[in-house]
Amino acid sequence: MQHLITLADIADGGFAEAEATLDGDAESVILHRDGDQVRAWLNVCPHAGRRLDWAPGQFLKSKEGLLVCAAHGASFELANGECVAGPCRGSSLQAIALSIVDGNVLLAKHRPA
Ligand code: FES
Repeated sequence: MQHLITLADIADGGFAEAEATLDGDAESVILHRDGDQVRAWLNVCPHAGRRLDWAPGQFLKSKEGLLVCAAHGASFELANGECVAGPCRGSSLQAIALSIVDGNVLLAKHRPA
């Protein structure tokens, strides 16, 4: 399993970015920590396919606790990656399955369908 980051390297409630090899391609992944859990999505906005961070690993979070795409402001729920405001409302980020083992955040073998 690919090691992406350690849990301690992500502030609780914050974000990080990591490179992962998915289906043989290097992809940027958004990581969001929520206590002892980490959620991950492809760093590709469903609106126009841009990265969501304004600089590598620097993601915007709204006052309402939404992840905001730096390109045109699409806002995503952190629970499920769904866009709830902005130009791609109703679309979702593509989730990436993770495993957390001994404080290490690992890419799970199989991607969710
Ligand atoms: S590419 Fe993310 S809002 Fe346009």
